[in-house]
Amino acid sequence: MTDENAGQPPAPTTASPAGEYLGDPAVRDEWDSRYADREQLWSGAPNGALVAEVGDLAPARALDVGCGEGADAIWLATRGWDVTGLEVSGVALERAAGHAREAGVTVDWVHAGLTEAGLRPASYDLVSAQYPALPRTPDAAAERALLAAVAPGGLLLLVHHAGMDTHQEHESGFDPADYVWPSMVSALMDENWKVEVDEQRPRVAPDGGAGAHHTDDVVLRARRLR
Ligand SMILES: C[S@@+](CC[C@H](N)C(=O)[O-])C[C@H]1O[C@@H](n2cnc3c(N)ncnc32)[C@H](O)[C@@H]1O
Repeated sequence: MTDENAGQPPAPTTASPAGEYLGDPAVRDEWDSRYADREQLWSGAPNGALVAEVGDLAPARALDVGCGEGADAIWLATRGWDVTGLEVSGVALERAAGHAREAGVTVDWVHAGLTEAGLRPASYDLVSAQYPALPRTPDAAAERALLAAVAPGGLLLLVHHAGMDTHQEHESGFDPADYVWPSMVSALMDENWKVEVDEQRPRVAPDGGAGAHHTDDVVLRARRLR
């Protein structure tokens, strides 16, 4: 009998929300403090672009990158998906796990940064990253990690706020050059990928939450052919 996982990195630790963290402590602390500032940061509803793009798909294995307070992961799990929710903020993951218990669904929560999580390559039929704040590095590690996680035949769905990538650096210190944007990921797709959707469109705005003022999305949906 062959071990199909031989030579592959170990599966990520299925961390309880309070479990060991794999990633940059400074990134975790920054997001923890942002979440801790409010009892609830996001709307609690699944993102409109996820619902629109995935609502008709048969459930399989999904990875929600930067799952925040868990609304998307829980929505997927209630529809029968086998979901892994990956997030740097332990504060957010505690909330996500509580919401999942209330909803009566199981999600595999991973407390890690995307590039540090040690995800098994080509393991997810859907990799969803909704407004992910992924740090950009010269080796494009986050972009490559998103692509590597998708199984042959699977989908990458990357959604961001339109116009953020061209914003001037803010007084707040937000510099778009520090983050990964959808065009950087599509630029790395080779002949093994087919871009199915790459467009800007009006956002189904959530009812409340910190991001409610953003009006348009950039939606990248691409299928890994092999
Ligand atoms: C703008 S929020 C979006 C949260 C959620 N996807 C949603 O739509 O409500 C970005 C999320 O990415 C998480 N994050 C930041 N850096 C990350 C990284 N390196 N790996 C995984 N998640 C990260 C943040 O903690 C935060 O929860």
